[in-house]
Amino acid sequence: MKKKILVTGGTGYIGSHTTVELINSGYEVIIVDDLSNSELSVLDGIEKITGIKPGFVKFDLCDRERLMQFFEDEKNITAIIHFAASKSVGESVQKPLKYYRNNLVSLINLIEGMQQHNVTRMVFSSSCTVYGQPDTLPVSENAPVKPAASPYGNTKQISEEMLQDVLSSDEILHCISLRYFNPIGAHPTGWIGEHPMGKPENLVPYVTQTAIGLRSHLRVFGIDYHTPDGSAIRDYLHVVDLAKAHVAAINRMLEGKQKDNYEVFNLGTGKGYSVLEIIHTFEEATGVKVKYVITDRRPGDVEKVWADTTKANRELGWYAKSSLAEALVSAWKWEQYYRKNYRKP
Ligand code: UD1
Repeated sequence: MKKKILVTGGTGYIGSHTTVELINSGYEVIIVDDLSNSELSVLDGIEKITGIKPGFVKFDLCDRERLMQFFEDEKNITAIIHFAASKSVGESVQKPLKYYRNNLVSLINLIEGMQQHNVTRMVFSSSCTVYGQPDTLPVSENAPVKPAASPYGNTKQISEEMLQDVLSSDEILHCISLRYFNPIGAHPTGWIGEHPMGKPENLVPYVTQTAIGLRSHLRVFGIDYHTPDGSAIRDYLHVVDLAKAHVAAINRMLEGKQKDNYEVFNLGTGKGYSVLEIIHTFEEATGVKVKYVITDRRPGDVEKVWADTTKANRELGWYAKSSLAEALVSAWKWEQYYRKNYRKP
């Protein structure tokens, strides 16, 4: 019998790509999502790619009773990957309580549900935002966690602390927190990808929406940073590589290979690219020009950050394999497919 993985937020961007990789690796997937920031049509994309439609149940994890009922109904969950969370940095500054409620209450409910129903393994979706602007680069898992720059970032820090506290009091529970750098791109088929609702905040969806004519121009937030071309540097990794890291984390847990019941891994490529390099690589790889203007820095942005991936490479046996150009081409393929089939420019 296939092992069943609960993927919360499984119709979201990273969740949907991870669902594909889990199915391709022989797992059964059941998704819980409230569709507050994703669309049901994602399930069709997953089915088109894998030939299998994952199980799906719609509810909000903050609804404790509904979640407990779900655990009653689904008795044989082997492990959980918990993506479901609100993730807009800007919105979190405007509506902090929405973030504290959605991201923390849901996690508390989920852990209690696990404890009551003997589900012992969880992979948690965290972020490199916990490092702020690191003192040294590349940034390893041992780098100090810096005060959060936004309520969103704070929810990730608090979630990690909560997990650590719970796991030191409950040695049966096991968790791996994955700290993502900047996930970009889409499945190479172009059948699933990122669906930003409204105006995108992240760079690559803004680039592809500008390229397709939905936005008049991209703003480059500052070229006065201490970097070779003056624009800020991030570690952009292909979302399919990131999805595969989740499968590696699940395998590690289920094979009993964890060295501690709480582990943390950085997931990136180990290489940083500037905003201008992203634009130019996109233009070269797709042949499409992106109109841009230089503006002031965006408040709260760090100057440069990229990952030390040694631990993930060594312990998870995982490497980010795709090039930046491949990731950008897949994002472009998805943007065109999405506009043609779902949302017209
Ligand atoms: C942001 C969040 C991070 C969060 C992640 C989730 C901030 C400060 N950080 O990461 O906490 O985990 O999203 O997806 O918001 N850029 C432009 N023009 C644009 C958009 C972005 O120049 O229209 C630049 C940014 O200034 C930055 C880079 O592109 O230098 C990447 O930006 P983005 O994709 O928003 O990611 P982060 O800011 O790294």
